[in-house]
Amino acid sequence: MNKGLLIALEGPDGSGKSTQIELLEKYFVDKGIEVIRTREPGGTKISEKIRAVILDNDNQEMDNMCEALLYAAARAQLIKEVIKPAIAEGKVVLCDRFVYSSIVYQGIARDLGIDTVKSINDCALGGLEADLVFMISIPYDKGIGRKKNQRELDRLENVGMDFHKKVFEGYSKISSIYDKIELINGDDSIENIHRNIVNRVESYIEHK
Ligand code: TMP
Repeated sequence: MNKGLLIALEGPDGSGKSTQIELLEKYFVDKGIEVIRTREPGGTKISEKIRAVILDNDNQEMDNMCEALLYAAARAQLIKEVIKPAIAEGKVVLCDRFVYSSIVYQGIARDLGIDTVKSINDCALGGLEADLVFMISIPYDKGIGRKKNQRELDRLENVGMDFHKKVFEGYSKISSIYDKIELINGDDSIENIHRNIVNRVESYIEHK
């Protein structure tokens, strides 16, 4: 490969994205390819501070537009500080969530509208697009159930089942709008999901 690659993993809470991103990172390391793993919101000192504000259960009064702008602000910093320089150096960047999360969570589930959220994020993205986007699909009640078993839920996870249902439906909707999104069945073994993702990555690189 002679140019960097941006791969984003998307999906509802508890879909297993983080496990898959770790496995994918190992796959690239084993191949001797330079790889950076990051997450949204977060991935830089400033973006992690913004993450803490967004997810704080104490911030129940947060306005939906404020929330959308904070996600975009965290994203702008991550792109400028980490993603764009890494891509320019020819590295592979693996991002746990990307702009599609904002489109689904803020645009659809929070009802701000896809166009509004897209236009806010166009400023943050500065023309950057992911090369590959995998959306791990899992029934919403199963995903949030997994999270509950792992740790205390954050402000977004605590919103309630109606919200998570809207997120689930939102992901289904955008996967039919954006050709770039590749659906991955998340209701499968960790190994099978990993293999499925790796096959698609290899096919993409081969045809690049
Ligand atoms: P995480 O738990 O996958 O790290 O994500 C944190 C929460 O933030 C999760 O509930 C999804 C939500 N989120 C949005 O609502 N909009 C966004 O743009 C992003 C990146 C995450």
